[in-house]
Amino acid sequence: MTSFFDQPVSIKSLTLKNRVFLAPLAGVSDVPFRRICQELGAGLTYVEMLSSVAIKYKNKRTFEMMARHKSETILGVQVTGSTAIDVAAAVEVLDKKGFDTIDINMGCPVRKVVNSGSGSGFLKDSPRISETVRLCRQATQKPLSVKMRLGYTRENVNVEDTVNRVVQEQADMFTIHGRTRSESYAVPCDLQGIKKGMDCSENIKFDALKVGNGDIFSYSDAENMRIVTGCDAVMVSRGALGNPWVFTSILEGKEKYPSVQEWLDVVLRHISYQEEFYGQSSLASILMRKHLLWYTKGLPNSKDLRHTLNNVTSLDDARNILREYSSILPAQFLRQEGSRLEGTKYDPKFDMDRQLDRGVGDEGL
Ligand SMILES: Cc1cc2nc3c(=O)[nH]c(=O)nc-3n(C[C@H](O)[C@H](O)[C@H](O)COP(=O)(O)O)c2cc1C
Repeated sequence: MTSFFDQPVSIKSLTLKNRVFLAPLAGVSDVPFRRICQELGAGLTYVEMLSSVAIKYKNKRTFEMMARHKSETILGVQVTGSTAIDVAAAVEVLDKKGFDTIDINMGCPVRKVVNSGSGSGFLKDSPRISETVRLCRQATQKPLSVKMRLGYTRENVNVEDTVNRVVQEQADMFTIHGRTRSESYAVPCDLQGIKKGMDCSENIKFDALKVGNGDIFSYSDAENMRIVTGCDAVMVSRGALGNPWVFTSILEGKEKYPSVQEWLDVVLRHISYQEEFYGQSSLASILMRKHLLWYTKGLPNSKDLRHTLNNVTSLDDARNILREYSSILPAQFLRQEGSRLEGTKYDPKFDMDRQLDRGVGDEGL
């Protein structure tokens, strides 16, 4: 059986093999993780959000983040910035770099990003939304999209206006994350809010692809998103952390719980890609730790295992520890408990090596 999501779809001239995308994820969506998600089915993946100012000043780390593996035949990139001119200049650079599609982030809630008017900061300055998309549209012929939230606060939901502006200026796709900037993950994704944004784009004579995002941890979540909002595709974020099988589930139209061997094969392959990309450095193992904790979430008797993995200093050690642990699990064991990562409230950002100053709930900004 396959699902609605296992059908090709086009964003302008770019044809994708299916309708399940991996979101840009700061500090997470690097080459190794993207390769794993693609192999397990993601139809489109993105480099994490880049800053237009960092692109303007040719920041070395930002250009390193644009790395692409030869197996990544289709790859998107995301950018944000505080002026339309800066964002459009960055889009021109990203176009020349050969990315297949370019997204403008109008949803990032991180305080320092928002304070500069970038990310969710756009949602408080509607004319700048139009101006930015207009200039970016002039800067690239590649498929152009915007990822947004419902609004800045619950009292100021303006998703319909944002969608109207984005589509009027001829973006080819938009993604709606069903929360406002001030809402944390403890607030469930508002599917009716997403639907409002999707429905209003119907009135405009422009055929933009509509993507739903928020709380997609399983096939049934994706299907529910589609039924309620009428989206053309879904974008998965936290649901892919430690559970790239979520892509297979959504494509096959049934939940996929990996066996011990399947689970181990994928985690070891992720470690190999990590080694290939970062080398056998201690950085490689430090950056791998968060993934190892996500992959082992909810496994039986895993307290000691997870503590050890959280302190691992070499990828070889990680391999040995995982092999030994998996050998004591019953062969018929299926990993399902960990796949929801403690429900939808879970905020991986607080767990990550790279702590981000999100400022969630700081409505005064
Ligand atoms: C670790 C992490 C990093 C994120 N980085 C980005 C990013 O770079 N760009 C972006 O548009 N959204 C980013 N997001 C937000 C997600 O893409 C998504 O919109 C949000 O998590 C809601 O989806 P979910 O409920 O399925 O997780 C990030 C989320 C997490 C958890």
